[in-house]
Amino acid sequence: MLTIALPKGRIAEQTLEIFAEIFGGEFRFEGRELILDMGEFRFLNVRNQDVPTYVEYGSADIGVVGLDVITEKELDIIKLLDMRLGRCKVSIGIKNEDELDWSKPNIKVATKMVNITRDYFAHKAVGVDIIKLYGSIELAPLVGLADAIVDIVETGSTMRENGLKVAEDIMDSSAHLIANKNSYYAKKDEILALYEKIKTVVESRDS
Ligand code: PRP
Repeated sequence: MLTIALPKGRIAEQTLEIFAEIFGGEFRFEGRELILDMGEFRFLNVRNQDVPTYVEYGSADIGVVGLDVITEKELDIIKLLDMRLGRCKVSIGIKNEDELDWSKPNIKVATKMVNITRDYFAHKAVGVDIIKLYGSIELAPLVGLADAIVDIVETGSTMRENGLKVAEDIMDSSAHLIANKNSYYAKKDEILALYEKIKTVVESRDS
């Protein structure tokens, strides 16, 4: 039996489609149910940010979560496979009429991704004041809360529709299959067998 934590929404649906393709049958959370039992698999429907928590504590053996979240949370887990779903970038955004002035001391940056932001600016040896927000990050420069933002860019429409532009890309992200370390050793055969099957589907789709 393998327990798999999935991030609510499109990535969960697309991952369940991969399982349906491999094993046949209908893999779908019914209504507001948070657990789906299908044969030897139990799926958990959790918030994106919470997937690593379930996996790290071992309540889920494996999970699917964005590389941005893995990087931000500095997780002690095993990264198994790039599922090539939910591709996006983590980027620095500024107002269309602005330029990012790296010589300015303590640039004010609003973000959900505090660690990624701190590391990126530290790497450039630039001082930064990080303002932690939980959503609608694009608003911050528009009302003078911050000079810039660090946020996820997928289609680019949120920035565009709010008069922002990308100043620099920090990293590429996509959903990855991760495993709890203990589970990986205790259930290695099961996990690797599943990994191989998912990898075959993912690679066949992309080629
Ligand atoms: C995410 C992200 C951006 C937006 C990017 O926000 O934080 O705001 O999507 O997507 P786009 O480039 O396709 O426009 P989300 O919808 O998760 O809401 P949030 O801002 O409340 O986190």
